[in-house]
Amino acid sequence: MSMREKIEEAASRYPDQRSAIMPALLIAQKERGHLPGAVLEEVADILGVERIWVYELATFYTLFHTEPVGIFHLQLCDNISCMLRRSEDLLRHLEEVLGIKKGGTTPDGLFTLSTVECLGACEMAPVMQVGDDYHGDLDIAQIDALLDRLR
Ligand code: FES
Repeated sequence: MSMREKIEEAASRYPDQRSAIMPALLIAQKERGHLPGAVLEEVADILGVERIWVYELATFYTLFHTEPVGIFHLQLCDNISCMLRRSEDLLRHLEEVLGIKKGGTTPDGLFTLSTVECLGACEMAPVMQVGDDYHGDLDIAQIDALLDRLR
């Protein structure tokens, strides 16, 4: 099934096509890896909605990526619960061992490092999302072990 067909099928469940933008963007990102302007315009055209509505959502939510990301996207929460449990130390460590700054991607394209808003898993702060998986109660040793497993 093509991306267009998947989006049209998902959109058929919504009475208002504007409501289908989020699921359409998720489909497009899964299909294309990230959401450059041409893909956002394609999504808007498939749904028949204003392009600005698609741009607004794609650039507001951190789960959407308008730039390419690495094979493993490390999304470290830096909101209050995680910050109180020293997520800043983890961020500094990740920047050091990966040799990139927040927002960067390693030259081999393996890792992208980002900070994100609350992941809704404060009970296991500090938390980092990698792909669809959450890793919680993290410390530097666990970060190192996780990176070793991913490499
Ligand atoms: Fe980090 Fe909620 S503040 S998961």
